[in-house]
Amino acid sequence: MNKVIFLVGNPRSKGNTARIVERVDEILQKRDIETEIVTLNRLGILPCKNCGSCEDDGECVQDDDMRELWAKVESSDGLVLASPTYYSGVTAQMKIFIDRTGRAKVIWDYKRNLPGGARFSEGKRAMLIGVCGQSGERWLKCSIIQMRSLLADLEIPLYSIIKGDGADVGGGLFEGRPEMMIDIDEASEAFVEGDEEITLSYKEIGT
Ligand SMILES: Cc1cc2nc3c(=O)[nH]c(=O)nc-3n(C[C@H](O)[C@H](O)[C@H](O)COP(=O)(O)O)c2cc1C
Repeated sequence: MNKVIFLVGNPRSKGNTARIVERVDEILQKRDIETEIVTLNRLGILPCKNCGSCEDDGECVQDDDMRELWAKVESSDGLVLASPTYYSGVTAQMKIFIDRTGRAKVIWDYKRNLPGGARFSEGKRAMLIGVCGQSGERWLKCSIIQMRSLLADLEIPLYSIIKGDGADVGGGLFEGRPEMMIDIDEASEAFVEGDEEITLSYKEIGT
């Protein structure tokens, strides 16, 4: 990988998600990978209106920061999606990215079956980061599934997931939990190496 873009859904700049992202970023930079961290909360992006316009020409009618964001994703070969859980799912900021991207980048291809289409170019790989306040990975499961669903639609293979549960319990994610740092380091390496793809399991979703 030469360039990795982090799309971060948490609005708190010094929260747990930001701390994990910083650590992963550090590891990637040590491996001479160029990185960029984009905090979605700082962008002007509006929700998908399901107007159907992208079904005609693959273009979204909304002229906002999403256009520049898609260009940044396109120019990267690694994509990291990171979000805390807010009411069992990703944050509103991340959900906007998921919905808008899923519609504009995928639906047009399916409907028209045109080569290339609006989809991102091939050869990208992804990593996911999920954080939740309560103890137990089940509290971040839905957030991970939401982000994984988009990757599956975009056909971007997933190589690594970091799950940080219990952020609001006791000493939080890091105090007295040395395994958290080890998990982050190992997951970062798995992302860089890209040896073993994690496939989307519908059993896991429970349908
Ligand atoms: C609006 C809101 C809803 C939340 N809902 C959940 C939830 O459903 N389950 C959970 O485990 N934690 C929930 N949390 C806790 C956050 O996931 C937790 O505090 C996390 O550390 C926030 O991310 P950050 O530290 O990166 O800012 C919620 C927090 C907020 C602000």
